[in-house]
Amino acid sequence: MLRTTVVALVSAAALAAIQPLHAQSGSPAGPVPVERLKARRAALLGRIGTGTVVLRSADERDLEKDYAQDSDFRQDNDFFYLTGLETPGSWLVMQGRDTAAARVVLYVPERDTLQERWTGPKLGPGPEIAALTGIDDVRPAGKAEGEIRGFVFGAGRRLLIKFGDAAPKNDFLDGLSHNGVAQKVEDLRPHMAALRLIKDDDEIRRMRRAAQLSADGHKAAMMAAVPGIWEYELESVLEAVFRREGAERVGYPSIVGTGINGTVLHYDQNRRQSAPGDMIVIDAAGEFGYYTADVTRSFPVSGKFTPHQKAVYELVLATQQTAMDSVHAGQTISNLNRISREYMRSHSGDLCGAKSCDNYYPHSLSHWLGMDVHDVGDYRTPLEPGMIFTIEPGIYLPAESLGVRIEDDILVTATGYENLSAGAPRSVADIEKLMAQGAKERKKK
Ligand code: GLY
Ligand code: MN
Ligand code: MN
Repeated sequence: MLRTTVVALVSAAALAAIQPLHAQSGSPAGPVPVERLKARRAALLGRIGTGTVVLRSADERDLEKDYAQDSDFRQDNDFFYLTGLETPGSWLVMQGRDTAAARVVLYVPERDTLQERWTGPKLGPGPEIAALTGIDDVRPAGKAEGEIRGFVFGAGRRLLIKFGDAAPKNDFLDGLSHNGVAQKVEDLRPHMAALRLIKDDDEIRRMRRAAQLSADGHKAAMMAAVPGIWEYELESVLEAVFRREGAERVGYPSIVGTGINGTVLHYDQNRRQSAPGDMIVIDAAGEFGYYTADVTRSFPVSGKFTPHQKAVYELVLATQQTAMDSVHAGQTISNLNRISREYMRSHSGDLCGAKSCDNYYPHSLSHWLGMDVHDVGDYRTPLEPGMIFTIEPGIYLPAESLGVRIEDDILVTATGYENLSAGAPRSVADIEKLMAQGAKERKKK
């Protein structure tokens, strides 16, 4: 591996030829429109009275200290949401409109041509960043610490920062909370969660693409499945499609569980060889422009459901459909969960043995979805147009090595909902048809 301690012999002229990396540069998702960024910042400021919001970007990962196999830099979600920037080592400072000098200031590191030989060219403070973010006041990051102290002092000494493990670690920020400059330190996360819960049109565009490319990956995996195939082979089929269609990374580790592994909810070793008669549970999705889908399909490796597999599958499918049919603005996640369990319980018969099948449905029905696979948001919030969440009932019968989960990504609309991941077949007939087509194409080769 290259080591950053090796002296870099590089001329500034050589670097000048390389385009600096900036907001989603080179990504099929493209940059976030400046009007959207401005609207998001205005919405946040509208929630904050007097006070100072300080948000740290993510920092470069250290190849020698971190396990950075997925090697690309990924921005902090909230920082990206408000700036659209992928620049590391940066600060966003925002002061509410009740503050005498309301302001939005972005601090980004000055360019360092020697360092850029290792990390790639970056945008420094300057007009390009102002144009991409719609923030006119862009300053060198070296000035940030001194100036931020002054800003906090001048705005009622009320500071809003992200609490918790997910926030980028930063000594200056930790110090600011404890050195007496701020008298009131509050958690920014509930404000960000409330904003991110309702997706704007650019976010919905990204989510649609993430769900579509994920559905395409699932279709390719169904077509490639054949008894004896290894779980990791199917993983590679899925992930190749995600990447080919523009995903920058997977949204979460791909789960490919054959047979007994399909009953392990977050199994992601993907090392087993499938055997004839296995059901396969694949829970995998790509991330497109910082937004991830979350899609699960279950199907028989042979391409044909046995009568028992079909009966269990169809109970899960009907449970899922019942929950989908109950989606409307004003509905709640907890009510949908209850509806799905009641449906499964009352339609189980003796399919799962002495106990009804909902006893083998150990997880909840739904979670918010967006920049995080388990996205931020208060689960008590009634559904509103623009919210996106999963519907994912399952039945897991380890004694029979049989797992079934079906998971789709649901956008709440004014008239009901849109299933963003509907591109991946769900009915028994559609799955068997697609798998038969896959078998035919294999024969031709
Ligand atoms: N893929 C993780 C989940 O479904 O929650
Ligand atoms: Mn999920
Ligand atoms: Mn999932």
